[in-house]
Amino acid sequence: MSVEIDHSGKVALVTGSGAGIGREIACWMAQAGASVAVNDVRGDTAKQTVALIADEGGTAKAFVADLRDDAAIDQLVADAETWGGRLDIAVNNVGMMAGRSPTRFVDMDGAFWRDLVDQNLILTALCARAEALVMMEQGGGVIINVSSGETTRPSPMMSSYAAAKAAINHLTWSMAVELGPHNIRVNAIAPGTTPTELIREAFPADHYEAIVAATPLRRETLPEELGRLSVYLASDLARCTTGQLILADAGAFLSRTRPPNLGQDASEEAP
Ligand SMILES: NC(=O)c1ccc[n+]([C@@H]2O[C@H](COP(=O)([O-])OP(=O)(O)OC[C@H]3O[C@@H](n4cnc5c(N)ncnc54)[C@H](O)[C@@H]3O)[C@@H](O)[C@H]2O)c1
Repeated sequence: MSVEIDHSGKVALVTGSGAGIGREIACWMAQAGASVAVNDVRGDTAKQTVALIADEGGTAKAFVADLRDDAAIDQLVADAETWGGRLDIAVNNVGMMAGRSPTRFVDMDGAFWRDLVDQNLILTALCARAEALVMMEQGGGVIINVSSGETTRPSPMMSSYAAAKAAINHLTWSMAVELGPHNIRVNAIAPGTTPTELIREAFPADHYEAIVAATPLRRETLPEELGRLSVYLASDLARCTTGQLILADAGAFLSRTRPPNLGQDASEEAP
């Protein structure tokens, strides 16, 4: 006996899938048979993802939209549904440190906080809202919100990002409760340290290596591992799972070894 996941005939939307984790999620959804709406603010990279999927015999289309614009979110979901005829799977992957480096709590002003909350929590909530409206109408679906391992084991210098992502965990619970009766499952995935542009920009190489060395598995999370996890969560194998935060963090959550503090005076470190 073998177990297979087949998303043939389904339509998936993956936000921010022109690069990094989102690209791998899009490619894995396509490999599992789904038609994939590839969203990104960058047209060139979105088209590259579509080409990667087409090269493997999959079906995808690029939808260029900057999701910092509320109206663009509603338009994206409407366009994806029109293209695919339905929307079965939605992965809300856009989120970031807003192009900002890790920063001390005491150095974050209101604009910094608003930017982080906007680009993580609010953007995710508005995407999920638009997706849920389509899924309610068609009788069900699966939503996956991308959170972060930072929400379970916070590091110094990341408080606004971690708090905004932690709010996504709670949003996922609330959505699961409200949308469950509509046959919509909602889960969150939490990547550990994953080598993407976002991370390369944020951390010096030696800091990155120290974070990885502090995990029980002594490894980083690969973008494709979030792809595999998302394909599983979207499948019937996970049909009784909703409202969960699933970690793919090499066990960082359990580690007793703290990663080094970045740019923080040693005297400020916790004992
Ligand atoms: N890389 C990690 O270690 C890590 C760890 C935990 C959580 N995450 C989360 O995973 C998600 C993906 O991260 P990543 O490392 O792949 O990032 P990335 O920066 O490599 O890729 C993000 C993609 O989203 C696109 N994008 C950014 N803003 C957008 C917008 N407003 N509208 C549309 N597209 C937009 C970018 O153009 C890019 O293609 C994020 O939510 C991030 O917070 C990443």
